[in-house]
Amino acid sequence: MSTPVITAQNLAKSYRVKGKPDFVAVDGLSFEVTAGESFGLLGPNGAGKSTTMKMVGAVSSRTGGSLSILGLDPDRYGPEIRSRLGVVPQQDNLDAELNARENLYIYGRYFGLPGKVCRERAEELLSFAQLEDKATAKVDQLSGGMKRRLTIARALINEPRILLLDEPTTGLDPQARHVLWDRLFRLKEQGTTLVLTTHYMDEAEQLCDRLVVVDKGRIMAEGSPATLIREHSSREVLEVRFGSDRNEQVAPQLAGIGDRVEVLPDRILIYADDGEAALERIHALGLEPVTSLVRRSSLEDVFLRLTGRSLVE
Ligand SMILES: Nc1ncnc2c1ncn2[C@@H]1O[C@H](COP(=O)(O)OP(=O)(O)OP(=O)(O)O)[C@@H](O)[C@H]1O
Ligand SMILES: [Mg+2]
Repeated sequence: MSTPVITAQNLAKSYRVKGKPDFVAVDGLSFEVTAGESFGLLGPNGAGKSTTMKMVGAVSSRTGGSLSILGLDPDRYGPEIRSRLGVVPQQDNLDAELNARENLYIYGRYFGLPGKVCRERAEELLSFAQLEDKATAKVDQLSGGMKRRLTIARALINEPRILLLDEPTTGLDPQARHVLWDRLFRLKEQGTTLVLTTHYMDEAEQLCDRLVVVDKGRIMAEGSPATLIREHSSREVLEVRFGSDRNEQVAPQLAGIGDRVEVLPDRILIYADDGEAALERIHALGLEPVTSLVRRSSLEDVFLRLTGRSLVE
């Protein structure tokens, strides 16, 4: 087992809020990330994902626990750590005064890289981000997705060993997301360690070797996507709709069908190893859903099971 590049033990962060008790955003997270691994934090709004990423990125200090990044404590070695990381914050923070190419170049210079190296890498990264024809466009002339791609390109200018991505594909269209997943996959193949947050279960399933499900600043579960699904959900899920008014009314009659029944505002989920068989049992009760669908369990189901809430609110 290789040594971890990130170790967090009981990591905590409280925010001072005027006139109120301190607000605990991260409440004792313990996790390790090994070199070359792709590790995800999955959780709903306010779970503490960005707060954790900022502590790992050495831009926000912890208020409890211990943290080691590449063997260094961010409280003491902030600049050293930051120079070896690539960071994609949740909110793009590109320099609006500069064009796309200059954003890459200046960022490289900021890390002390020679001008020639910055110029070469800027061209490579413009191509990586498919922004060659926008090289001289100012930031506010770029679309949201283009800004995102430029922020990711910029994070790679110092050839970081660890790339932190806070919701890398939020706001991107499906095609741009797939392009980005492909790029991230290539980085991973080259040995870059990826740490990402997401609300998208498909993104987590595609990109993460291992992930933690976080809610209210705590870890609810940990494992590979497949393991989490196997441990916390049934093989299949039957989704039935009886109409918004009738779902609540019908639900009690479905007790005993499958392993578990979950009533959502718009549909009922029945967790069962054989979804079709569950549907037949519903029909046998004389009930006719307006729509029905059998699908495989996903991380969304794991999340619902662990927190009683949906990932996407
Ligand atoms: N500077 C701050 N001062 C006070 N509270 C804060 C501050 N930053 C974040 N919080 C609070 O900490 C909690 C966690 O916020 P955080 O941004 O880490 O969540 P998140 O998991 O990234 O959510 P999202 O999915 O919406 O990005 C939230 O309740 C938020 O309001
Ligand atoms: Mg966030």
